[in-house]
Parts: sequence; structure tokens; C-alpha cells
Amino acid sequence: MSKTLIVAGLLVASMSTFTPIARGQMKATEAVHHEWWQHAVFYEVYPRSFSDSNNDGVGDLNGITSKLDYLQHLGVNAIWITPCFPSPQVDFGYDVSDYENIDPMYGTLADFDRLVTEGKAHGIKIILDFVPNHTSDQHKWFLESKASRTSPKRDWYIWRDGKGPNQPPNNWTSTFGGSAWKYDPTTGQYYYHYFYAEQPDLNWRNPEVVKAMLDAMRFWYERGVAGFRLDAVDTLYEDPDLKDNPVLPGNDKFGYPNTHEIYNKKLPEVHDIMRAMRKVADGYGAVLIGETWTQNVAQLREYYGVRNDELQMPMDLMMTEFKQVSAPVFREHIGAVESTGGWPVFVISNHDIMRSYTRWGDGVHNDDIAKMMSAMYLMLRGTPVMYYGEEIGMENNDPKSKDEVRDPIGRRGWPLEKGRDGERKPMQWSDAKNAGFTEGTPWLPVAPNYVTHNVATETADPQSMLNFYRRLLELRRDEPALREGQYAALNPQDPNVFAFVRRLKGEAVLVALNMSGSSQTVKIDLKAAGFSKPKMRVLLTSSHTPITKVSTDIEMEPFSALIAKTVK
Ligand code: NOJ
Repeated sequence: MSKTLIVAGLLVASMSTFTPIARGQMKATEAVHHEWWQHAVFYEVYPRSFSDSNNDGVGDLNGITSKLDYLQHLGVNAIWITPCFPSPQVDFGYDVSDYENIDPMYGTLADFDRLVTEGKAHGIKIILDFVPNHTSDQHKWFLESKASRTSPKRDWYIWRDGKGPNQPPNNWTSTFGGSAWKYDPTTGQYYYHYFYAEQPDLNWRNPEVVKAMLDAMRFWYERGVAGFRLDAVDTLYEDPDLKDNPVLPGNDKFGYPNTHEIYNKKLPEVHDIMRAMRKVADGYGAVLIGETWTQNVAQLREYYGVRNDELQMPMDLMMTEFKQVSAPVFREHIGAVESTGGWPVFVISNHDIMRSYTRWGDGVHNDDIAKMMSAMYLMLRGTPVMYYGEEIGMENNDPKSKDEVRDPIGRRGWPLEKGRDGERKPMQWSDAKNAGFTEGTPWLPVAPNYVTHNVATETADPQSMLNFYRRLLELRRDEPALREGQYAALNPQDPNVFAFVRRLKGEAVLVALNMSGSSQTVKIDLKAAGFSKPKMRVLLTSSHTPITKVSTDIEMEPFSALIAKTVK
């Protein structure tokens, strides 16, 4: 860790500065104008698994509406609903067959309108999931496209001749296993699909596609959605010459050679489309959240746009790749994200990756670790995107055998790839049958820890994870320094305790996180952050023996969080 990182976080304040600020350079101004989404708490709902109002075993929109009181009380301001449009459900909604309707399994457009209206009454905005990279193979556009080589929709997708008999056009592989090309005997050509064969890629080089898709976004803005989460934006464009990707050593989980996906991922043209989508969004005051898988913060920075004219909220998904809690690792990463000058969007879990509770749990202190990590990411500068159930400590619960698997990639890749069922289990509302999710047979079985980790039980327990989350979100709402304050890391060499301050106009909130499994004494010195010997008051702690006073040496229990504030 370089010395300059000590002060890294003191520096970067507002969205309005687009030039990355060098680490080590002081910046006097404090946060200026903030947009609604910068102060909001976002919450991802996987609709199949959230709440089932008609007891058919699959969650639905009316189920979500019935839980708005819960979400409001938790402190959520916007919900992102993963695709609820008509779909054959091969990829559980990410195979859209009509962009301008609701799948009957989830309800009707009238149900959706009611959700928007009720959401408004609860101070909760609705964000939909837009899937621009591909449609379902049952979408009328694709059915028309595949009908003949001369179809007016032929060029809406990516069709090519094979290299020879039984040879696809190139070596590109689908991220869901196998070749990314499927031969279609009707016209004797192959079509390209980065995901399942039932998800043919749209051809974004065709202006008619661009128009149709932007119109679909307008359709929902007109119905009151506050923005979109954009699916798989990295893969919108492909090299027009279809050059082979360089082959790397080894095979993927599906037994195909690893490749470096330079010709079908993150092409520069993606940014043109991000700008076009942003223009439309700006007309409605809407926000765009990106599913942006990046290897480093430089790549993440690109998604904000050179003139901050692309995505307002490209998700930082890099933390989900950190396998263990470690003070130096998180301090370094957050310092780097801060140095980009963009508004951070921290994510620790979603419907495609192992839940953070399981990823970071050590099997003994899982609840303590989960509370500590929530204090980390909810107290940072930026907008958090929570994943349903993380607030009650839902765990991953992978299928035990191949025949239990619902997610097709789990069936194809078993046992190396078990699929994503484990992170998509029904929400745990109570300790009743099926965790109170449904009175029918749930589409996925509930995870066993529902007996102890559920909304009803945890609401009644003042020390529960749920009540800890509520308190954290209250602090975010009530403390201006947590909403807008600058970030500064403290004690940069500490291998165990990650500590930082958020400061605003002569006030500072201190966050100290003991990321080790042993007790630690942490030295608190806020001089570098501009406070010499401040008096401090404890706002919240996850310690089993509560900390009541903040001195210059604080004793912290293993895997615990302390949040304190300067008092005048
Ligand atoms: C990313 C989504 O999050 C994932 O669930 C889906 O399978 C792929 N994109 C394809 O749409």
C-alpha cells in the first residue's frame, strides 16, 4: 500500500468533477449538487423468489407490492426488478420475447402500474431490467429473421455462413457453454448467441434495432419507471470480421478451450450506445445502472463516459470476486475506486454470484462477518445496490445433485458449474412452511437457515442482522457526512482493521471494521483528516459487548464494526 493512499479518500468529492483527481492532491470543495439516485438505497428483487401472491410457487408483481411496507421500513428507495417481461423462461426472464409487456406468470400491465403507484406512495422508485444484448429465440423479431435469408429482419441478428461443413464461423464460445454459434437448417446459416442458444444476439450495428430498443425503453419511462439496470452491456458488439479470439491455456467449466474475448467483448462501439441510451434517460430524469464486469477501475471509469455522459451507475462488481475479508485488500480497492472521480456503486451480491454471507463467512462467525461487511459497504461514499435477503443473512444453498438443478448452466456444467439456483432461493419471511414465501410448492426449495434467519424472527430481535441493517440505512439517511462526505482511509498499514472517515463541513463519521478473527486495538487519530483530538460519540456497533466510548485506542472484538461521529 503506497503512502499516498493514506490521504486518497480525502480528495475526491463530487460527481461534477470528471477528471480523475490524482491520489495525494487535496481538494477543498465538498459535495455539491447530488441527484436523487446518489442518495438512494437500491435493492434488487428477483421476482420469481420474492413473494408469491397467488400461491403458484413463483413470486409475482402483486407479491412485491404487498411487501412495500417492509421495504420502506428497511430504508429502501428504489427496487430493481430482474426481467418480468414475457419470456419462455429458459434463462428465467433474460430471454425476452416481448419488451413491452409483463409475463402472465408475474401479473399484468395493470399490476405493474399499481406497483409504480404504490411504490410512489412508499417513496420507492421502480427500476426495470433491460436486456439489450439478445432476445429470446421466440421473439417475433427472431422468428421473422430466421424465416428466410431475405427477411426484412434478417440483419437484426448476426447470421453467417460456417467456415465449412459442420464448422461454425469462428472460435467464439458461449459463456454458458459450447460454441457461440448455432446452425439453423431453415436457411443453412449460423446465428450468434453469447448466452444460451435460445438467446440470439441482436445486431446493434443495424439502426432499426437501435430505434426499436430505444423505443422499448421509452415505453417503460412513459409508464413511470425511474431507470433501468442494463444487462450484459459488455457484449453488445462484435468484431464485424468475426476474427478468432486468441486461445489461452486450459479449458472452461464446460470443457471448451479458454479464449481471450477481445473480438466480442467491450468493443469501443458499446460506448456510443451507452450515450444514446443516456440521452433518452436524461429526457425522463432516469438513471442507468450497468451490469459492468470489469477487471480494474480503469475499465470501470470508461463506463461513466469521458464526459460523464454514459452510465450514471456502472456497478462495481469487483468486490464480489474477493474471496476473503481482508483489510488491505478492501482498503486498496476502495482507494482505487475513489481515485476515479466517479460516483461509486458498490455491490456485494446478486442473482448470478454466490451470496456474500456464504462467500465471506468462515462457518463460525458468519453473522458477525455479514454485519461487519454491511457496515463497510453501506457506509462508503456512493450508492449501494443490495440483493434481496442479504439483510437477514440469507445464505447460498446450492443443489446437492444434478437432478435438483433448475438453472440450465448447472445442468450443462455439473459438477464444476452448479448453476445459480443457490443464490436465488425464496425470500425468508418467517419460520412458517416455505419460509412464508408461498403456500404452494416453491419453484426452488427454501434454504435451511430460514428457521433462524427470517424477517419475522429478526424483526423481534433487537440484535438481529435485519435490525442492524435498518439502523445502518437510517444512519445513511440521517447523517449528511454519510450521504455526501468525502472518504479518507485511516491507518493505511493496519493489516487487520480497515478504518475510514467520511467528512463534511467540519463533521466526521468514523467507521472501523475489524476484519480479523482476533481482538484488535485500533488507534484513532483523525489529524490527517483535519480533526485533532475530536470528541466522538458512538452511533452504532456490532460488538457483542457494546462499545460506549471512543478513545484514542479502541478495543475491537473479532469481525466487528464501530461507527462513531465527531461532536462539537
Ligand atoms: C446477466 C444476468 O444477470 C444473468 O442472469 C443472465 O443469465 C445473463 N446476463 C444473460 O442475460
